[in-house]
Amino acid sequence: MIQGVIFDLDGVLVSTDELHYQAWKKLAGELGITGFNREDNKRQRGVSRMASLEIVLEKSGKTYTDEEKAELADRKNEYYKAMLSGLSEKDVLPGAKETLEILRGKGVLTAVGSASKNAPLILEKIGLLPLLDKISCGLDVTKSKPDPEVFLVAAKKLGLNPSVCLVVEDAAAGIQAAAAGGMKSLAVGPLYETLGGTYQARDLSYVKDWEEILK
Ligand code: BG6
Ligand code: MG
Repeated sequence: MIQGVIFDLDGVLVSTDELHYQAWKKLAGELGITGFNREDNKRQRGVSRMASLEIVLEKSGKTYTDEEKAELADRKNEYYKAMLSGLSEKDVLPGAKETLEILRGKGVLTAVGSASKNAPLILEKIGLLPLLDKISCGLDVTKSKPDPEVFLVAAKKLGLNPSVCLVVEDAAAGIQAAAAGGMKSLAVGPLYETLGGTYQARDLSYVKDWEEILK
C-alpha cells in the first residue's frame, strides 16, 4: 500500500519552464550567445542550475572560471525570481490541487521532490504549501535526477520507506530516478505514454481511481 506520494514540481504541479527559458535566454544574450534555443532548454528540465548553465555555455566560444560561472548562475536566478513575481494560484496545473486534497483525505502523506532551489518560494506563490507535508529540493541535494537522491530525501523527511512511496513525474530522468530509488511512478505530461512509468495519465486531472494506484 502506498503511504506517500512525492511530486516533481515543474510540469507536474506548475509550469515554470518558459520562465527558466526566458531567464537563460536573457543571460545568453548578455554573453553574446545567440544560438541558445528551446531545444537546449528541453535538456535543462530537471537538471540543476549549474548543469543548466553548462548547457547555455556549450554554445559560447569562451571559457569561464568557477567564480564567473557562480556569478552567471546567480544573475540568471535574479532574472528568474523577478519573472516568478507574477506567479499565482492560476498557474497550478490541472488536477494538482484536487489530487493533494484527495490524498490528504485518504491519510496519504505528500511531498515535493524537485531540483529547484526556488521550490519553497514557488509553492508559496501558487498556494500549495499548506497541502504538502514535506519539501525536498535543490537546497537538500548534491546530485541531479536520474540520481534518486531528491526522492530518497523526500521519503526520509516523510519518515517512509521508499518502497511505500510513489513518484509523480513528467520527465524521463525523474521516472528513472524513482526506479533507481525503489519507488513506483506515475508518468504525466505531454510525454506520459513514452516515459516508462508504472502508471500513466495525461495530467493529474485524468487520474480517476487513486485507490487502484495506491493499492
Ligand atoms: C528544475 C528545472 O525544476 O529546477 C530545471 O526543471 C532547473 O530546469 C532546476 O535548472 C533548478 O532550478 P533553480 O530554481 O534552483 O535554478
Ligand atoms: Mg518536471
